[in-house]
Amino acid sequence: MHNVKEILSKEETLDPENWNEIRQLGHQMIDDMMDYLQNIRQEPAWRKIPEDAKEFLKQDIPQKPQGIGEIYDEFKKYILPYPGGNIHPRFWAWVQGTGTPFGVLAEMLAATMNPNTAIGEHSAMYVETQVLRWLKQMLNYPETSSGILVSGGSMANITALMVARNHRTGKDIRTRGVNAVSGQMVLYCSTETHSCVDKAAEVMGLGTDSVRKIDVDENYRIKVDELITSIESDLEKGNSPFCMVGNAGTVNTGAIDPLNDLLDVCRKYNLWFHVDGAFGALAKLVPEYADELKAVEEADSVAFDLHKWMYMPFEVGCTLIKNAKAHRNAFAATANYLLTHERGLAAGPDPMGNYGLELSRGFKALKVWMSLKEHGLEKYAVAIRQNIAQAFYLGELVSHEKSLELLAPVSMNIVCYRYIKDGFSTEQLNKLNKEIVMQLQEQGIASPSSTILNGNYAIRVAITNHRSKKEDFEILVKETARIGEELTA
Ligand SMILES: Cc1ncc(COP(=O)(O)O)c(C=O)c1O
Repeated sequence: MHNVKEILSKEETLDPENWNEIRQLGHQMIDDMMDYLQNIRQEPAWRKIPEDAKEFLKQDIPQKPQGIGEIYDEFKKYILPYPGGNIHPRFWAWVQGTGTPFGVLAEMLAATMNPNTAIGEHSAMYVETQVLRWLKQMLNYPETSSGILVSGGSMANITALMVARNHRTGKDIRTRGVNAVSGQMVLYCSTETHSCVDKAAEVMGLGTDSVRKIDVDENYRIKVDELITSIESDLEKGNSPFCMVGNAGTVNTGAIDPLNDLLDVCRKYNLWFHVDGAFGALAKLVPEYADELKAVEEADSVAFDLHKWMYMPFEVGCTLIKNAKAHRNAFAATANYLLTHERGLAAGPDPMGNYGLELSRGFKALKVWMSLKEHGLEKYAVAIRQNIAQAFYLGELVSHEKSLELLAPVSMNIVCYRYIKDGFSTEQLNKLNKEIVMQLQEQGIASPSSTILNGNYAIRVAITNHRSKKEDFEILVKETARIGEELTA
């Protein structure tokens, strides 16, 4: 390195020259963002991104500085007006939570402290430890179990399934790979299981051929007798069944697999019982669902999201694992640059990297900690129960509207329905309902998403939204019928 003296004679920093300017802008941003959220109901549920905004977002990387006020103006002009809309009361697409104003502030505080919640003696490590304890209490997992916050449901499932793969086979898979196991390793789940389980099989080196997709009944719940037949057939062939993934709320229809029966099957065949409870595990907080979801407590592991049905800002999901030792054995690594000490900064709780794939990690735990304190668990139970009641209400509205029909029974917080018209073929109805979904969105009325159930295109409403009100579902039904009528007139 040449010119060291010269470079160091004019040291630079990325901190502002004018702290007052950024302070004032920050105050302005908070005012604007709170106004934005407070008035979100007056905005369309979704609006198209105009071409000029898309063009603006194709600019090359900036080489020179730009004023922060101007950058904020660009944000307000080209970015802020075009959200996906999951902050809106009539957003029910895919499964996306709403977020909260206090969650916004928590994100700011987390970014201010900017810890790497990976290793060390600092408060973020203890906040995450406490949050994990709270989440264990929430789902009635024993204190001795372990867990980790991850980016979302997909990572939560992958993390748990890696532990299952390593532990249940009893082989040293970390060293020898899946070749250490004789016979094909097999994982079971229903045809309604989220695609992230396939991805997990891919990244675990098993391949999707190892995932047995068991058929479902008319309520979209796994057929347990077919599961047993499949396991026995694998055993006969000399394959190595190791895990069963049960659904606490399928992504398509919200169906809950018969978890108690699955638990019995797992015990009989010595399978790791994992529950994908991405959103549905949270319904455990609601008295009417406590029994049906009781088996979640008995599972070896559970994956769930806090950015879905706990309405916390993206991203944050969680995996809990009963056998903390098996969890640690699946991920713990030693490296000279990651030594822990008895005292000083390198002391602290067991490094988080020993429980998951990631090393560097942000301070997701703070928004969970602050949100849980702000509302208390009881308030979450009320909000979740309200969303379920709204789904049943929507189901009733659909049933009473002669131009609409339900495509799946409502069992939790998801409603799948379609517009129907005498004499229309399945193909015509599929095309028509797809057009209805796009018009509902383009007209800014509401944002359902879609799925295909038994070949039928369904308008799919997944309610994990604390801003939705009864009247929002009345609007959805009225407007679906109106658009359907206009399109078929
Ligand atoms: C049942 C289920 N599992 C897993 C996932 C994946 O979660 P994420 O999108 O947070 O990765 C979802 C997402 O909707 C889901 O509904």
